[in-house]
Amino acid sequence: MKRFLFLLALAAVSCVSGPTAPAPDDPAKEARMEWFSQAKLGIFIHWGIYSRGDWSESWAFHNGTVSMEDYFAQEADFTASAYDPAEWVRLIRESGARYTVITSKHHDGFALWDTKAGDVSAVKTSAAGRDVLTPFVEEVRRQGGLKLGLYFSLIDWPREDYPNVFRAGPARYDIHKEPERWKHFLAFNSAQLKELSEAYNPDLYWFDGDWEFNSEEWNAPGIVAQLRETNPDVIVNSRIAGNGDYDTPELGVPVVRPASRWWETCMTINDSWGFRKKDVDFKSPDTILRMLVDCMSLGGNLLLDIGPRADGTIPQEEIDILKELGRWTSKHAEAVYPTRAGIPAGHVQAYTTLNKAGDILYLYFPYAPNESIEIKGLKSRVKNVRVVGTGETLDWKQYNDIDWSQTPGVYYINVPTRVLDPRMTVLAVEMESPCTLYEGTGQVISFNE
Ligand code: GLC
Repeated sequence: MKRFLFLLALAAVSCVSGPTAPAPDDPAKEARMEWFSQAKLGIFIHWGIYSRGDWSESWAFHNGTVSMEDYFAQEADFTASAYDPAEWVRLIRESGARYTVITSKHHDGFALWDTKAGDVSAVKTSAAGRDVLTPFVEEVRRQGGLKLGLYFSLIDWPREDYPNVFRAGPARYDIHKEPERWKHFLAFNSAQLKELSEAYNPDLYWFDGDWEFNSEEWNAPGIVAQLRETNPDVIVNSRIAGNGDYDTPELGVPVVRPASRWWETCMTINDSWGFRKKDVDFKSPDTILRMLVDCMSLGGNLLLDIGPRADGTIPQEEIDILKELGRWTSKHAEAVYPTRAGIPAGHVQAYTTLNKAGDILYLYFPYAPNESIEIKGLKSRVKNVRVVGTGETLDWKQYNDIDWSQTPGVYYINVPTRVLDPRMTVLAVEMESPCTLYEGTGQVISFNE
């Protein structure tokens, strides 16, 4: 009997430290990741000469779709003539994003800032003829409320001291046979990163392209150490050969909660990173909102990409999506930023998160329930249920909360049509104590009245 009761006790788990919750990391990292874990939504910006819209960013010449010459001829069309960084930042802030990441340099080596370390930049080799990164950073800092991330490609395919140029065809040289040449390239990357750190002191570096060499070959620990000399709290994404702070799955929301304590899914708004004239396959606001909430419910962030045109204008479809995200995130702010991963799937047919104290369970459902939605396996007693954004209190009932059983009764919450949000309704289920769950398989009767 004792053994039986012990097993029953095991079946009840705290929602916060449940079996799927990743272990805490070191305290310094916990502190520097704090803003990131509360940010939930970031806006990614891919902007470069590829934003003329004919070919993909950098990959077009690497894969041989166009010649290097034709690819770089796009510099003549990178005018930034209608570029309004204040408007960009206003829009990003309006979406509810708490951080933004802009491509300071993609794999083609074209730098948006006035780099002194290299010869290819918006200032030196484009029609714009000016630094287009500084005005953006200034607006981010001036308007406030956003953390600044800089995307930086470790790869710089066109450079003579970079070994690999095209996907097909031999490399220019072998870094182990010509170590000095490789060192020259690493010194160049390091000089550019020094410029970025000194000029902009970003909150986050978003590296890309690490797959071509390993950690030692990139001197990845050395790069991270260099960045932390300027800013000890700077966050670094995972694409630096295992030396980063958080995981960055691309174009797919995880199905189960990732083992990593911090992560972010990066996502295109249509099917491309940079602006493409032909790509009008925009995801709907509903689709993107579900991705955001799905990430939140699994304890991560969504980094949603936009692709401004070469003249600096943002496609109207992208503006509309960001504004609609903003409507939803501002109405439901309580259930967005201060939340953390929710409870495992199976307890309720909805996305879920928890507040910091663990005594409010948020339910997000992108559908209209027939009459009610139910929660099973919730051991903590519910004391109130309200609609987030309007505050309206809802009726609820619990069935089969039986004395002799460890299986808690099922809660049914009435959801009248009038409280539904047009895209995603959010309920706050307030409990008497921090959430604990029953995760067992049910119990047979041992006593009855
Ligand atoms: C990939 C691609 C790149 C894109 C990036 C964004 O690694 O190389 O073109 O910028 O993902 O996540």
